[in-house]
Amino acid sequence: MIRHEVIEKNVVLLAVLTLLTVSIGGLVQIVPLFTIETTIERVEGVRPYTPLELAGRNIYLREGCYTCHSQQIRPFRDELERYGHFSLAAESMYDRPFQWGSKRTGPDLARVGGKYSNEWQYAHLVDPRSVVPESIMPPYGFLRRPLRTDNIADHLRTLKALGVPYTDEMIANARADLATQSNADADGTAFAARYPKAVQASFDGNAGVVTEMDALIAYLQMLGTLVNFADVTPEQIRQ
Ligand code: HEC
Repeated sequence: MIRHEVIEKNVVLLAVLTLLTVSIGGLVQIVPLFTIETTIERVEGVRPYTPLELAGRNIYLREGCYTCHSQQIRPFRDELERYGHFSLAAESMYDRPFQWGSKRTGPDLARVGGKYSNEWQYAHLVDPRSVVPESIMPPYGFLRRPLRTDNIADHLRTLKALGVPYTDEMIANARADLATQSNADADGTAFAARYPKAVQASFDGNAGVVTEMDALIAYLQMLGTLVNFADVTPEQIRQ
């Protein structure tokens, strides 16, 4: 008791000892992380974005969709019932920057892929109130303009520098893969081998030009579709 009084009455000593105690706590938490290869558990099915999806993701960022939409399903019953399986860290491991978000003016989009048809997504983006009369989402009809594709390989290269496992082959074929994915009639054998589970379609219903709309819809339609949850989730969590 007396010795503790000494500490409490000496602000410098108190500060030094507090710092020491907090540092020990910090070290105990942080040091083990350096000894394991990755802090993210690898999950089967997660792959880097296709060039078209990546272009769509860039539009998502540019238009600030994240100001109204989150992409992280929390492990709470109401969220699981509304959106599906809670988000896994691995699902956003190739996201730079991640889109977890902190604001839900609109619904969470982490598993919106496949929830609606491409036609619905297109109609909704052009005029949200045409399909959801009470919607307050702004219209994005201007995205029907051509997509800029000349710099897509640079986007892949940049992400590769940050650790996303794009291969030289993926980078060399970036522009061609982008064109292939947005054309339902193109031969997609090599493309599908590079990007398993990628959907090939004319997303905006206009096969002639690759538009920003094509890219954004391709991105929305893949969200949450890569992992097969029957394979990764233990029985008791799935209930
Ligand atoms: C001002 C806020 C706001 C912004 C910005 C916004 N949204 Fe929305 N979004 C909403 C609201 C509210 C809804 C729910 C009503 C509806 O379906 O239109 C919604 C619904 C959606 C849905 C349907 C989700 C579902 O599960 O039913 C998608 C997909 C979507 N938004 C995509 C986008 C994309 C992509 C962008 C950026 C280009 C965007 N939103 C920008 C507010 C917003």
